[in-house]
Amino acid sequence: MSPPNPPIATRTLPYGEAAIAEAAALIAAGQPVAIPTETVYGLAADATDSRAVAGIYAAKGRPSFNPLIVHVLDRGAAEKIATFDDAASALADAFWPGPLTLVLPLRPDAAIAALVTAGLDTIAIRVPAHRAMRALLEATGRPLAAPSANASGSISPTRAAHVLASLGGRIPLILDDGATQAGLESTIVMTGSEVSILRPGPITAEHLSNFFPGEGRGPVTMISDTGPASSQPDAPSPVKQIVTAPGQLDSHYAPSKPLRINASSPAPDEWSIGFGSISGDDTLSATGDLTEAAAALFSALHRADASAKPRIAVAPIPQTGLGVAINDRLRRAAHRD
Ligand code: TXA
Ligand code: MG
Repeated sequence: MSPPNPPIATRTLPYGEAAIAEAAALIAAGQPVAIPTETVYGLAADATDSRAVAGIYAAKGRPSFNPLIVHVLDRGAAEKIATFDDAASALADAFWPGPLTLVLPLRPDAAIAALVTAGLDTIAIRVPAHRAMRALLEATGRPLAAPSANASGSISPTRAAHVLASLGGRIPLILDDGATQAGLESTIVMTGSEVSILRPGPITAEHLSNFFPGEGRGPVTMISDTGPASSQPDAPSPVKQIVTAPGQLDSHYAPSKPLRINASSPAPDEWSIGFGSISGDDTLSATGDLTEAAAALFSALHRADASAKPRIAVAPIPQTGLGVAINDRLRRAAHRD
């Protein structure tokens, strides 16, 4: 699908009652609206309206086989859409509202547009914590499908200005509520006979593993396309890397320039992003704090992309806790076909 021609005017409004009312009116009219969540900015549309969902794919230029995450206000709303097993219920109780997405069997009677799941019989669903997304869910009374609010294949937005740079002219409204808190997309988990992480994120493998001890449940398994376990000697046991999740495209988080990871000393033509004791042109966290680094990651990549240097180098990030999700995004950003 191609972007609108001629381009449409994109307005940015600060979070508040008036902005939420305008956003809700656009959603009711089948339009997509960019709105922050606690992870990254999302591009939201009514998940029950197939034309509205098609508008998300069109604005992002996203391949239609890549399914979307549905956002709802609470467990009750989620249970109308998906079937919960015991593990899913326990995880929802522990981590919702928050940056955890559960992939669950889609209820046959769920009023969700088929385009949302891209034909799968499972659905990715989460209850967000951010006040803006929650206010929009309340005002619309609809489940909202929302991928990250960036053009397909580019970096996820953690500020309204990132959304404008990527989707300006393609969407009618960006609701601005400042920088997002986590800075990384939600952790995606599938339950069943074992708990599998389809995408690492703010809820770490350690959080999930600690949550299930003594229940006789198998290990938490990391399912990712970011390389075999042997390339990650520091990966916390019992986390394993096996295969890819549907739609986790290699180049999904790519900046427009070549990016080198685990770079202890940058070349002169590289814009260097530091961490801890490695200071660069920019740093993810001078004190080596992984939470601060996660929140800063996509902004730093946006600045690197805008710099005069033709290449990007990123300092090594420890493969523990939130570092697993940061390294996942960095490896995708570094990957070139
Ligand atoms: O933090 C987030 O999750 C943000 C905010 C806006 O909520 N959203 C987000 O959405 O990152 P998106 O569309 O950029 O990423 C959704 C991921 C994709 O990798 C997609 O393939 C996967 O979720 N996904 C969606 N439905 C799935 C399903 N039924 N089974 C497996 N993976 C699924
Ligand atoms: Mg995305």
